[in-house]
Amino acid sequence: MNMLLRLLTSSLGKKFLMAVTGAGLFLFVIGHLLGNLQIFLGPEAVNRYGHFLQTTPEILWPARVGLLAFVIIHIWTSISLTLENRAARAARYDVKEVVAATLASRTMIWSGLIIVAFVAFHLAHYTLLIVHPEFRDLHDANGWHDIYRMMVLGFSNYWVSGFYVLGIGLLSIHLSHGASAMFQSLGLKNEAYTCAIDGFARVAAVIIFLGYISIPLAVLAGVVK
Ligand code: HEM
Repeated sequence: MNMLLRLLTSSLGKKFLMAVTGAGLFLFVIGHLLGNLQIFLGPEAVNRYGHFLQTTPEILWPARVGLLAFVIIHIWTSISLTLENRAARAARYDVKEVVAATLASRTMIWSGLIIVAFVAFHLAHYTLLIVHPEFRDLHDANGWHDIYRMMVLGFSNYWVSGFYVLGIGLLSIHLSHGASAMFQSLGLKNEAYTCAIDGFARVAAVIIFLGYISIPLAVLAGVVK
């Protein structure tokens, strides 16, 4: 047990934990996108989906607890590894290093922390209903929480929609590097596959960006009303 703990808190162990939790969060982002896109199928489809989740605590609560644990481990390992890297670089201050790194890879810690702020606002907006407590009273003809109307009302505000586009943009930039770094940390990246893996990460990030922003943009354009 002690040895496992020591292994997981070593630099290599932290990289592994960051990659595994990142992969889990990536899958959540895809699943959540597919759930949300049901808004294009009309109110009944998306409200049925929300009602199913809210009335199935045996799925909802383990998913919530797992998600929270993944977020905490992902943030802890990333901050800890960033500090370790900085300390190692400071100790080698006399060696000038030229590192070929993309903007996405150099700003991972910052895009990650801003995404946390975006998700905190998002939870206050649509899950905890702190931003608009009146959304609690929205119900459709079936008596289900009217998530469809809630999203239409929420995204009718240009500032709110703009903030979502910004948050999702940063999330996509973060994923465009994170999804490929994950393969490296898990030891699944070699020269033969590098191009394919980087391409997959970029295409996935673009699909996630376009998929998510299509919802506020469709509301603002009056396509979803
Ligand atoms: C246009 C983009 C998005 C829309 C329309 C949207 C919509 C929603 C809605 C309606 C809920 C509340 C579900 C309910 O309580 O019944 C929700 C919850 C949530 N969303 Fe999003 N979301 C978007 C983007 C994101 C992104 C990018 C992330 C993560 C990076 C995210 C993470 C979450 C989380 C963690 C929850 C809480 C789930 C729970 O425990 O109930 N969402 N979202």
